[in-house]
Amino acid sequence: MFKKILKNPFTAIVLIWRRFFPFGIKPKDMEAYRIGSWSYGQLKRVFITDVFKGIEKTEVTLRNAFDKDFYTSMDMQEVFILCSVMKHIQAKNILEIGTFDGNTTLNLALNLPESGNITTVDLPPEWDGTLQLDIPEIYKNVTERSGVGRQYREYPELAYKINQIFEDSARLDWEALDTPFDLIFLDGCHHYEYVKNDTLNALQHLKKGGVLVWHDYGMIEDVSKVVDKYIGKMPVYAIRGTRIALAIKEVL
Ligand SMILES: C[S@@+](CC[C@H](N)C(=O)[O-])C[C@H]1O[C@@H](n2cnc3c(N)ncnc32)[C@H](O)[C@@H]1O
Repeated sequence: MFKKILKNPFTAIVLIWRRFFPFGIKPKDMEAYRIGSWSYGQLKRVFITDVFKGIEKTEVTLRNAFDKDFYTSMDMQEVFILCSVMKHIQAKNILEIGTFDGNTTLNLALNLPESGNITTVDLPPEWDGTLQLDIPEIYKNVTERSGVGRQYREYPELAYKINQIFEDSARLDWEALDTPFDLIFLDGCHHYEYVKNDTLNALQHLKKGGVLVWHDYGMIEDVSKVVDKYIGKMPVYAIRGTRIALAIKEVL
């Protein structure tokens, strides 16, 4: 490496400059702006391979990988990482809050073992416009009701692994669920009070060694603020190249 730099110092400087100090460079790919805006939160971003040793050997299959809503869906890499974490920790009992079109539900179900199960929660199809917690209108991120779970319903052979619940997450009867969970994924309402409430409930209903995953860390200030409150209290990580933050529950 050093020899290469000495032989071509000018090219080396240009490459290093562009990669590590991209000042004065105008990005031409909108993704660079989008990812650049994920700037909330105090956590330093780490590679998923630094959190879960050996995860790089995990094999994951994705379906409907390109069937995404730009503003609402998880990125393909995020779904891939979430499924990899689930497989790596050998999670069998999963909870997702915020089903949307079911792309993530579908892929989690697909990568679960035969005995695995995912419970996914979204507001009812006949939602009346009100929420359990009093939050400003602008925070209501309720998606088209008729499309909830559309993607996993395309694969009826996976239906036996999926349990759809229609409920406001703040009204959820956690005691009636098949707790404790191995992995909980929070991606419902992103208002601070909802994220806080979902997080407190999730931590209570997670197994020891279980993983709590939040979406939209860095992109949404409220989510980032809730996650940051756990820094120093438990192992919490923000995963590089994604809006995923995760915590590992060490004690019951
Ligand atoms: C960002 S989307 C979820 C995306 C999905 N997890 C995925 O990976 O494709 C958020 C979903 O949460 C639902 N939602 C919003 N407020 C909710 C609440 N209070 N309780 C339950 N679900 C809620 C919305 O209807 C929407 O479908």
